[in-house]
Amino acid sequence: MGCQYYAPCQNGATSLTVAIPKLTYGRGCLSEIGQRLALQQLKRVALFTDEQLLNTSILSIVKTSLKEQNIDFGIFHDVRIEPCDDTVTRAAAFYKDGNFDGAVSVGGGSVIDTCKAALAVATHNIPVMDFFAEPVGKGTPIPGPVPYHVACPTTSGTGSESTSISVLRVNELNTKFVVANPWLLPDAALVDPANCDSLPSNVVASTGFDLLCHALECYTAKAHTQWQNVENPNSRQLIQGANPFSDLFAPEALRIANQYLARGVADASDTEARDQLMWGATLAGMAFGNTGTHLPHAMSYGITHLMNNVTTRDYPMPSPFVPHGISVIVNAPSIFEYTAAATPERHLEGAAFLGADSKGATPDDAGEVLSKRLIELMKETKMPNGLTDIGFTEADITPMAESSIRQKRAILNAPRDSNLVDLENMYRGALSYW
Ligand SMILES: [Fe+2]
Repeated sequence: MGCQYYAPCQNGATSLTVAIPKLTYGRGCLSEIGQRLALQQLKRVALFTDEQLLNTSILSIVKTSLKEQNIDFGIFHDVRIEPCDDTVTRAAAFYKDGNFDGAVSVGGGSVIDTCKAALAVATHNIPVMDFFAEPVGKGTPIPGPVPYHVACPTTSGTGSESTSISVLRVNELNTKFVVANPWLLPDAALVDPANCDSLPSNVVASTGFDLLCHALECYTAKAHTQWQNVENPNSRQLIQGANPFSDLFAPEALRIANQYLARGVADASDTEARDQLMWGATLAGMAFGNTGTHLPHAMSYGITHLMNNVTTRDYPMPSPFVPHGISVIVNAPSIFEYTAAATPERHLEGAAFLGADSKGATPDDAGEVLSKRLIELMKETKMPNGLTDIGFTEADITPMAESSIRQKRAILNAPRDSNLVDLENMYRGALSYW
């Protein structure tokens, strides 16, 4: 199956590049931060975090570890969930003015993504908007290295510590876009599952579906050999399609999501489940950092663009707000029903990793089998029943499709081509499931 899926294509990619940070996983490893930075001979670091984490034991562990190694630091905590271009501009100014020689990010994807982009802006004096692909920005590549960055995730979903991607809201357009560049990859990551011990169940559910979709989108993405070959190796993007490297990690992340997501959501004291979800998020992060996501992520941006009067419980955010993981999973059953026709075997395998009963299923059944299993998992974890459950109606379908179709690279990374009408139909199929 693997060889067949990656069969050579005319003018298709013949090589793939793998990039991951030096990664440490384990309960308690956050306290290694000072020693990690001391080894790099750093003297003063910028510590990026958010308001909610500022007075927690998580930040105390980091600060104590830095002090023990005589590493000075300054804290930037003005990062809200779903950071925007303004957030990055302010974070970059903080870095530039602070006489720092490295950075630590402690938080969810929002904090880590802010830190990544801020380091690039501060180092190269290029406005963050220029880094977005045209027509949103100028498509300016990040020209060179950025300061040493250790990422420390505090949610079990983002995977941002393992990727060269920063997802930011563009204020002027009121939606999110991706900056992807190899220099954004953190140098090191400390993945400590203890950081997630106090997460509310709805946050574990949302971030868990984020990790699940990272893995499932990687496994079902277009094969990397189908992307155009790149002449200059330095311009090879890490959003390079499904590949044998991500195939090592995505299936295990899906097995973990199947086995532990409902348990981790139902019981905050189930340390085994929550630790496994953090490991699954790490695996999925390494996979999608080298593969890229596709339609579920692309179409989630239509939701966050047009959400109007919705607030999801357990998130300290004013209305309107839909957590990232929910915005991704809510369309997923409908999307995979559509994409399965292109690569039914990969979809059936994905369903099997998630525990679906696919005995006797034919390729024609692949979409339904996978979609059904995703809906079961959504029900088990009390996810919204489709778009109507988070305030959308039929009237929102075309505007959402028009917004999402701008996510060109992710849409092209899907195994099946789609146009505006296809996106509309997928949103329509996601209005409600049960
Ligand atoms: Fe995601």
